[in-house]
Amino acid sequence: MKKIVILISGRGSNLQALLSAKLLCSIAAVISNRADAEGLEIARQQGIATRVVPHREYADRAAFDTALAQVIDGYQPDFIVLAGFMRILTEEFVNHYHGKLINIHPSILPAYTGMNTHERALQDGVKIHGCTVHFVTPDLDHGPIIIQAAVPVLGKDTVQTLSERVLKEEHRIYVQALRWLCTDQVTLNVQGKVVSNRAEQADTSLIAPNME
Ligand code: GRF
Repeated sequence: MKKIVILISGRGSNLQALLSAKLLCSIAAVISNRADAEGLEIARQQGIATRVVPHREYADRAAFDTALAQVIDGYQPDFIVLAGFMRILTEEFVNHYHGKLINIHPSILPAYTGMNTHERALQDGVKIHGCTVHFVTPDLDHGPIIIQAAVPVLGKDTVQTLSERVLKEEHRIYVQALRWLCTDQVTLNVQGKVVSNRAEQADTSLIAPNME
């Protein structure tokens, strides 16, 4: 059985979705860079080991990443799952976990990399927005894509309503991605491409606003 560790910084709704999904993997630990992350309590309630590596206690990004990697490596995980982990990781850290580091991002990458994705989508007036699960590479938010979900953007949307619509899909696709990864149905090949045995579907689309 594959072993994963989950990294969080805050609320932990993606963590909750992963825990509720009863994945065919063992969750070795939930690690946070903030002692007050609400998600730590969610993990504790489910009897999962929690660790805190407070980034403020380290002189720089490299020192923090080294300490974080030491904690992670103690569990020897197959995958390190970033679920709202709000720290940019060094190239050394990312390369150390090549093919094992997974992230969820609240946009249809490569659109809207970085922060404030929902605000920027609303400002641009896009009609379709969404979320992406991808392998992490040193090129921020540009790693090989595993799965994406799209939602319509409505005229009356606020950051709040749009982010809620996207978050619902985040929970669905993160669970799906981990199911595939933990059962070797999706892998990263030596060329750095995602290989999947999943059936694909050509005759489906999302058009927004609705044409009818
Ligand atoms: C999610 O929107 C995720 O995509 C982003 O940070 C948010 C974390 O939310 N990286 P939660 O802590 O999982 O509720």
